[in-house]
Amino acid sequence: MLCKVTLIAVAIAQLCVAAPAHRDVGISIALQKNSSLTTANGTFNHAAAIRHSVKVANKYRQNLINFHKNTGRFPKNVTTIPPPKLMPSNLRRRQNESLEDIGDDTEWAGTIGIGTPPTPFLIDFDTGSSDLWVPSSSCADCGAHQTYDATVSSSSVALEGTFEIEYGDGSTTSGPIYTDIVTVAGVAARNQSFSAVTQESSQFSEDTIDGILGLAFPDISNLGQPPFFQTALVQGSVPEGVFGFKLSSNDSELYLGGTNTLLYTGSLEFHNVSEVGYWQIGGASAVLNNDKAIASGFDTIIDSGTTIMYGTPSDVNAFYSAIPDSQVFDQANGLYSYPCDSPPSLAFSWGGNLWTVSEENFNLGETEEGSGQCVGALSGEDLGLGDNVWLLGDSFMKNVYTAFDFDHKQVGFAALA
Ligand SMILES: *[C@@H]1O[C@H](CO)[C@@H](O)[C@H](O)[C@H]1NC(C)=O
Ligand SMILES: *[C@@H]1O[C@H](CO)[C@@H](O)[C@H](O)[C@H]1NC(C)=O
Ligand SMILES: *[C@@H]1O[C@H](CO)[C@@H](O)[C@H](O)[C@H]1NC(C)=O
Ligand SMILES: *[C@@H]1O[C@H](CO)[C@@H](O)[C@H](O)[C@H]1NC(C)=O
Ligand SMILES: *[C@@H]1O[C@H](CO)[C@@H](O)[C@H](O)[C@H]1NC(C)=O
Ligand SMILES: *[C@@H]1O[C@H](CO)[C@@H](O)[C@H](O)[C@H]1NC(C)=O
Ligand SMILES: *[C@@H]1O[C@H](CO)[C@@H](O)[C@H](O)[C@H]1NC(C)=O
Repeated sequence: MLCKVTLIAVAIAQLCVAAPAHRDVGISIALQKNSSLTTANGTFNHAAAIRHSVKVANKYRQNLINFHKNTGRFPKNVTTIPPPKLMPSNLRRRQNESLEDIGDDTEWAGTIGIGTPPTPFLIDFDTGSSDLWVPSSSCADCGAHQTYDATVSSSSVALEGTFEIEYGDGSTTSGPIYTDIVTVAGVAARNQSFSAVTQESSQFSEDTIDGILGLAFPDISNLGQPPFFQTALVQGSVPEGVFGFKLSSNDSELYLGGTNTLLYTGSLEFHNVSEVGYWQIGGASAVLNNDKAIASGFDTIIDSGTTIMYGTPSDVNAFYSAIPDSQVFDQANGLYSYPCDSPPSLAFSWGGNLWTVSEENFNLGETEEGSGQCVGALSGEDLGLGDNVWLLGDSFMKNVYTAFDFDHKQVGFAALA
């Protein structure tokens, strides 16, 4: 609880000192990240990684359901919706969790305000989903989180319908839908649809973040409503339909209404979105040690709300098979290890530059202290994304500046300054 308060205070403080580089153009929001899948002693946090993968799989399952509901289509060659993924029983709801264990949140969090007067929420800005939700004041099991109370916001309007995400253990995150004013730094979206959830899966109630703000396209919105950024764009609150992310361990930023040119060098290399819904771009290759293309011609979803990278099980197996002395670490979860002292170099190309994942960003930590084997941030787990789609999360995004352009439906990468 104390920890939570501290987190929010830090986020607000950062917000206040974050003098935007170009206030006339767009607005910077400082993001913070408190931990990762690597423990303090340098070992891989296996349980946290599995919990995160289950969350990601269920998120994409829901995205698929939403996509189909909204468009009548299935993205790519996916014809069956996988069952919700089950959290291994030993990793389910952990009662009596000590504060220092709140270490496995892996989101990039920043604050937003909802309502009149605004209530501050610590939010995960997620380019892999399209809805905003926070806990409701009438939620009994939402953990130690900030909550939304519709009765104290003069601008709150209740809508019909329900928001619901289903999990493999039978739990759901669900609640009624409202519109209200939502502000992110100086950017306001009036009448923004969101859910104030009255029931929360334990995966979220234990999280340090209060909720999620989705930054993908309306096609995958569970609410079937324009996401925050579209609303802000239509209402003229941002000068253009572009936002930029810099994710790093100490000075991360989301820039709304353009890109922050101080944070990258050269120009952005843009690629058209191949599947409007996700920030998905096609024609990708994965290259090992600047030499060998392990896989090519696949699509990639660029997702700030996912921590590591996932490829198809066969491609990922081929990747690690080409690394001497690599080993399967966890078959069921598609995890592999490699010799820590001779790390592989993984790079992606979409037909332009090679964008390399740094050694630091690829290494999730030693399998156990002194083993000399490190777990790689590329997993070969089937998340139900289809047979030709990889999911690139923070382990990739931390190596580049990323621009998400709604106006031209494209994603751009540039070298970090
Ligand atoms: C999170 O990081 C900030 C600094 O970035 C620090 O002040 C704060 O105490 C951290 N919170 C936790 C829970 O580790
Ligand atoms: C390193 O951290 C892991 C996870 O927190 C723990 O299980 C392990 O015992 C630690 N090792 C040492 C030597 O402290
Ligand atoms: C879809 O994928 C399956 C295998 O996953 C394959 O057998 C089938 O031919 C594919 N269909 C199309 C239209 O590509
Ligand atoms: C949690 O702690 C309470 C009181 O300290 C105890 O009664 C309860 O059995 C504990 N629950 C678990 C799951 O350890
Ligand atoms: C928001 O909705 C109210 C009615 O609920 C309407 O009067 C107002 O014009 C709307 N504002 C915007 C910016 O759409
Ligand atoms: C942020 O990290 C970079 C490289 O990791 C380092 O050079 C820089 O000093 C750090 N800045 C702060 C404010 O800690
Ligand atoms: C990208 O899309 C635009 C239309 O939005 C089109 O004019 C352009 O040719 C496309 N570029 C490529 C490389 O397909």
